Amino acid sequence: MPRVAIIGSGLIGRAWAMVFARAGWDAAMYDGVDGVADKALGLVAEGLDELAKHGLVADPKGSAARVRAAKSVADALDGASYVQENVPETVEAKRAIFAELDALAAPDAILASSTSAIVASLFTENLAGRARCLVAHPVNPPHLVPIVELVGAPWTAPETIARARQVYESIDQVPIVVRREIEGFILNRLQGALLAEAFRLVGEGFVSPQDLDKTIKDGLGLRWSFMGPFATIELNAPGGIADYCARYTGMYRRVQGQPAKPEVFDAANVATIMQEWGGTPSADELAARTRWRDQRLAALAAHKKGQSEPRGA
Ligand SMILES: NC(=O)c1ccc[n+]([C@@H]2O[C@H](COP(=O)([O-])OP(=O)(O)OC[C@H]3O[C@@H](n4cnc5c(N)ncnc54)[C@H](O)[C@@H]3O)[C@@H](O)[C@H]2O)c1
Repeated sequence: MPRVAIIGSGLIGRAWAMVFARAGWDAAMYDGVDGVADKALGLVAEGLDELAKHGLVADPKGSAARVRAAKSVADALDGASYVQENVPETVEAKRAIFAELDALAAPDAILASSTSAIVASLFTENLAGRARCLVAHPVNPPHLVPIVELVGAPWTAPETIARARQVYESIDQVPIVVRREIEGFILNRLQGALLAEAFRLVGEGFVSPQDLDKTIKDGLGLRWSFMGPFATIELNAPGGIADYCARYTGMYRRVQGQPAKPEVFDAANVATIMQEWGGTPSADELAARTRWRDQRLAALAAHKKGQSEPRGA
């Protein structure tokens, strides 16, 4: 069995352990804080049982048995051909752990970071093995949302990206390749563009936050759960994308001429939005909503599993 080292066993690390183990890999989880990796073993087993209820893992007990808690970074790296790093999101933390990983990992092991926003060139430049390092950015929770953004630094070897792509495909994730480094990668740039406009529209009183959410969950989001924006607009004009652009981009051009400004995220506008949103739920309510979200995501993942796209899609 191939072996993966999971470095950092918090929210994202333990979800990665589920993803790799579900696909038949042996996974060693390490955490810098004593006891965290041991506790994560129980959470991984519970998470796999939950996935099994939706038919998303064939053998939850066998998968959980493939995950172990490692006592040190070196212990986690023992026999690992792939490393998925998930330590806290600071450049200093990423630099320190990548220096250690590069010194200790097998020479042909790939070192992938789950970082949400820190480009690999900021923490791999001075490493002897920098050609084998890349960002592999998941979305929370990666055992239910399969996209992984692969982003190399300028010195990342093309074979590293190709091998990483093959690994994620083989464990049923959906890797995409970002061809050069850019802040926010692809997913968060798209999310940011949508959020900025949403914050502007609610902040300026055009719509309530609840109604804005409906335009996504009962509107755009329905198509977007199985086709992207390009594939969507292709079906919105008889002549496809070019025809759509000829017909409809006049309005988009005018709107883009006055984009939402960074100030839409200032505290004053957030306060305006929060007044209408109705406050922040308690920790218990947030936990309950998170469980509900994960159950809905699992049901959606089960629905999407095995659905084929029409030819040419
Ligand atoms: N939470 C998300 O929505 C999300 C989504 C995508 C990517 N990410 C990225 O994943 C990474 C981890 O985020 P998270 O949400 O799991 O954080 P988290 O706080 O839940 O987990 C981080 C874990 O790393 C451990 N740790 C700290 N220093 C360490 C070290 N030197 N060696 C080993 N373990 C160490 C901590 O004890 C903690 O358990 C971050 O880079 C984050 O940006 C997070």
